Amino acid sequence: MSNEVLSGHSYDGIEEYDNPLPGWWKWTFVATIVFSVFYWMYYHSGAPGRSIYDKYDKELAEVTRLQFKEIGELKPDEATILKYMQNESWLKVGQVVFKTHCVSCHGRDGEGKVGPNLTDDAYKHVRNLEDIARVVRDGANAGAMPAWGNRLHINEIVLVSAYVASLRGKNVSGGKAPEGNPIPPWPTATEAQEESADEQGKGAEHVRGS
Ligand code: HEC
Repeated sequence: MSNEVLSGHSYDGIEEYDNPLPGWWKWTFVATIVFSVFYWMYYHSGAPGRSIYDKYDKELAEVTRLQFKEIGELKPDEATILKYMQNESWLKVGQVVFKTHCVSCHGRDGEGKVGPNLTDDAYKHVRNLEDIARVVRDGANAGAMPAWGNRLHINEIVLVSAYVASLRGKNVSGGKAPEGNPIPPWPTATEAQEESADEQGKGAEHVRGS
């Protein structure tokens, strides 16, 4: 292998031969460069479903679906939203939805940027809890607030609505000035339970009556 030519320098008296790099080393190096071109074309060409972000989203969606099996399909009504406002761990799921899709316009803590402040008592489109879910699903102001109905699972809409409702009254400092009108406080959990019990009672009567 060695061609017995000294490189002409010495370190601490140790001299070295001026040997060429071994062939296997050089070809491995070239191969990594060739590989990188194909790698780049495969993962970074923008083809959908290949980037780690797309894969992450896909897996996250799968995990979410699995989790949702536990609670079934939620209804975007007052009683349900109120129920999940009391549930720390599901509220966290709502928070993740918020951090993923809403912070760009509503700010990290809901303090408002392009979209209104969600931590004060004034709202433009919301009078009660169900309105939050409706605005999230259908959007508002000709798409300035986008509609999420096609992009989010109904459970994500309910849970993010519960999270948004829970932000009310936090009055995060440095937030946007209030927009819209102050609205009455959210009902308490017991009020909502009574209401839904009433409705169920009515339903039962209806069945009995018919
Ligand atoms: C592209 C920016 C944008 C994104 C993203 C966005 N919003 Fe909005 N949102 C707005 C704007 C702008 C308004 C106010 C519309 C108006 O002026 O009528 C709004 C209004 C709202 C309202 C009603 C507030 C009120 O005062 O009545 C709620 C609730 C809301 N957004 C929740 C959300 C949630 C939850 C998400 C994430 C799933 C989200 N928004 C994502 C821009 C956005």
